[in-house]
Amino acid sequence: MRHIIYFSSKAVTSGGALRKKDLMEAGRIDIAIHSIIQGLYLSHDIRKDTVIHLVFYGMPDPPKHIEIHGSKVKIAKKNIAKLLQKILYKYKEGERKEVLPGCFVEKKSLLNIVDEFLEKNSQVFVLDENGKSIRDVDIENSKDVVFVLGDQEGLPKKELRRMKKTIQPVSVGNKTYFASQTIVIVNNELDFRNI
Ligand SMILES: C[S@@+](CC[C@H](N)C(=O)[O-])C[C@H]1O[C@@H](n2cnc3c(N)ncnc32)[C@H](O)[C@@H]1O
Repeated sequence: MRHIIYFSSKAVTSGGALRKKDLMEAGRIDIAIHSIIQGLYLSHDIRKDTVIHLVFYGMPDPPKHIEIHGSKVKIAKKNIAKLLQKILYKYKEGERKEVLPGCFVEKKSLLNIVDEFLEKNSQVFVLDENGKSIRDVDIENSKDVVFVLGDQEGLPKKELRRMKKTIQPVSVGNKTYFASQTIVIVNNELDFRNI
């Protein structure tokens, strides 16, 4: 299974906050939507082997961890903003709630999510311009593969420092790409390798 973890320090964390603002004012939820589209959607198909994780640290109730499973979700691209709104509205304190098939929400921090993958022996990589080229990185077919990336502000310094102690930083090129562009490159690399 492929897992993409998109982190945003400002993306809003309640359905009400998302409804009241436009997507850019809501902590650049537009970038999260681009990342979902590039992570999950193909021409006339959806990546059933991919899970998108959104980790939002904006107001009013951080952190929120949203999971969208390509194998189960049925949603048109144009309705993703409404889907996120609904998922955030339906959050229940103390629960990991499946709001719609393949769409989960819970309160969990970025480092806890990453640590859980490491405990399950998944291959975790952090997307970082200064990392090792993705073309030179060994990726096993038999294990889950996880890529962590940041929003327009990047990953928070403290968390990035912590992650880099145990996780291989990986670069997808010598330019700073949009978050959604890095997801396209990662998916393409994994496709070429039949992972
Ligand atoms: C728009 S970039 C963030 C730019 C931000 N100013 C910074 O310094 O991190 C969004 C995310 O994409 C990923 N990214 C962008 N370019 C990359 C590259 N060449 N290689 C690997 N990851 C990259 C990083 O995870 C980054 O946090």
